[in-house]
Amino acid sequence: MATHVYYQGEYVYRGVIFPGYIRRNLARAFEEQFECRDDDVFIVSYPRSGTTWTTEMVSLVMNGGDTEYNMSDIQHTRVPQIEVNYKPNIMRIKDFRSFNDAFEWSKSIPSPRLMRTHLQYNLFAKEPIKRKCKFIYVARNPKDMLVSYYYFYKMCRVHGCYDGSWAAFFRKFINKQLCYGDWFDHVIGWWKYAQKNTDTVLFLKYEDIKKNPRSTIMQISKFLNKELHDRLVDEIIHHCCFHRMQNNAGVNFGRESYVMNTKRGKFIRKGIIGDWRNHFTLAQNEEFNKLYEYKMKDTGLSFQWDGE
Ligand code: A3P
Repeated sequence: MATHVYYQGEYVYRGVIFPGYIRRNLARAFEEQFECRDDDVFIVSYPRSGTTWTTEMVSLVMNGGDTEYNMSDIQHTRVPQIEVNYKPNIMRIKDFRSFNDAFEWSKSIPSPRLMRTHLQYNLFAKEPIKRKCKFIYVARNPKDMLVSYYYFYKMCRVHGCYDGSWAAFFRKFINKQLCYGDWFDHVIGWWKYAQKNTDTVLFLKYEDIKKNPRSTIMQISKFLNKELHDRLVDEIIHHCCFHRMQNNAGVNFGRESYVMNTKRGKFIRKGIIGDWRNHFTLAQNEEFNKLYEYKMKDTGLSFQWDGE
């Protein structure tokens, strides 16, 4: 397979680094061109925080547990990532061929639409916020997120199949040099919005989903006013468990592509809480904790750092 990459490279927009496959001036374009509808639902996250997992659960809650439909094509063809410029078909997805970007594609999706984004709160279009669309934010403890992001950079062609060391990647986090910007800005920005808008924002944590997927699915169905029978909940839990997700080509980028070099890793990789302990040195952990405590004080937001 050819390894030509269309959108490699990064650029900075309003102080945030974006990967090259994201539309330039995206926030302004999103603001000016995106036609939102009152029943739109957005899944929002910093990368590697459980976006794909949450998207799979939410889409099943919204479509009444139609796992067959969910298995019929890859997740990116069902749930657009609104800031992505898909031209010229970087995902090699047949349905995208006629669209320049996710805005254009989203117009043809019947309501209620489910979309996702990694945009920070202050770069997100104001219209869906004003119109009280629904947002499901998923956050993950940033140490595990960072380890996961490191392996993602390594396999992702868009990130040049990153060849730097863990130590260098850790430094990128500290220096706010990772794509989609500073984790603290992202999570705290959406957390503050969520605190004031509990009717339109559901704030989830990766660790809670992992501990109790049933309770998460019930929370999602209540938030979206969708009634689910117990059997359906069981089916969603089963469909979304780690091993099924890892073996599901529709969510795991199982095939070699312009985006992923699958010889360098798995998109759905390990799925555990606490893998950071296998990567952080003592000094890195101390430096991280200091920064974390400083940034997170007074937010009232906390994370679970270890699994059972
Ligand atoms: P790891 O790299 O730690 O395994 P995103 O979808 O935001 O990119 O997040 C990817 C992370 O979510 C990966 O973390 C992936 O394995 C994990 N993940 C995906 N599905 C999961 C599941 N069913 N259970 C646990 N973790 C899951």
